[in-house]
Amino acid sequence: AFNLKGRSLLTLKDFTPQEIEYLIDLSQELKSLKYAGIRPKNLEGKNIALIFEKPSTRTRCAFVVAAVDEGAHPEYLGKGDIQLGKKETVADTARVLGRMFDGIEFRGFKHETVEQLAKHAGVPVWNGLTDKFHPTQVLADLLTIKEHKGYLKGIKFAYVGDGRNNMANSLMIGAAKMGMDFRIVAPKELFPEEELVKEAKEMAKERGGKITITDSVDEGITGVDAIYTDVWASMGEEEEFERRVKLLKPYQVNMDMIKKADDEVIFMHCLPAFHNRDTVIGEEIYQKYGLAEMEVTDEVFESKHSVVFDEAENRMHTIKAVMVATIGK
Ligand code: CP
Ligand code: NVA
Repeated sequence: AFNLKGRSLLTLKDFTPQEIEYLIDLSQELKSLKYAGIRPKNLEGKNIALIFEKPSTRTRCAFVVAAVDEGAHPEYLGKGDIQLGKKETVADTARVLGRMFDGIEFRGFKHETVEQLAKHAGVPVWNGLTDKFHPTQVLADLLTIKEHKGYLKGIKFAYVGDGRNNMANSLMIGAAKMGMDFRIVAPKELFPEEELVKEAKEMAKERGGKITITDSVDEGITGVDAIYTDVWASMGEEEEFERRVKLLKPYQVNMDMIKKADDEVIFMHCLPAFHNRDTVIGEEIYQKYGLAEMEVTDEVFESKHSVVFDEAENRMHTIKAVMVATIGK
């Protein structure tokens, strides 16, 4: 088997395709055990710090439930609870937490912060989302695709929308590593950074994967097995909304787009999603832009194609696998 003990997870760049597969297999195994009511307690006696500079439903709950299932104690350190980078350097906080905890999750703004934590903590650090990458989400997405399609290599997988955000970046890496036929479908203004595309193309070689960046919905979507989208403005860039609405309207995932894909296409979204007016911000957006549905229509979100809640559940099983693999017994 693969030994990932002591490893941090900052981006999937640092993991081989075999190691990623191992994490997906382990997730499936832990998921079956949970369904069978078996709790192996692989993390008995461990303490886990959960640092959040940004809000979270799925990531926080996934870490907490996974930790408790496996016998560990999770400690939530929210915005305003600790001095991280404000009154104390990130390096100092990392060294303190590393003396007490066996593993540290970080969700926040700068990717450099999670790198600093990993450099100084002396224990594994897991990236629970930064402005640049969201690797634990990608593991859940890969597991979800595998469950629905049976395999990953060669799957035609299109990410539509903001092609420069943390999801676009990390899906591109994950898909490249697994040898998928991955497309980013976005307006030119929101194409991913060239440097990262170059890196992904390099990574894709090992398993014969393909990376396409296009602004053409027809080119990107025709016949695909999976369509993925994300919010048009990520946490921390809410002031971008107006510009993004204009740029991204043609990239909304609606039934017309779904019809261009394979009949059995699955629709994916990391969530939270703007698919109706039933939220405070959804209503605000509607008042401002006259759009109740942004990146995806309610029709698609609620359709038989949608696997978004499988992805959400799989956050827990995959995060459990990451913790068990890196700090478990
Ligand atoms: N998908 C995801 O990371 O959700 P949260 O922001 O709720 O953690
Ligand atoms: N791109 C989104 C992902 C949320 C899980 C954000 O960063 O807000």
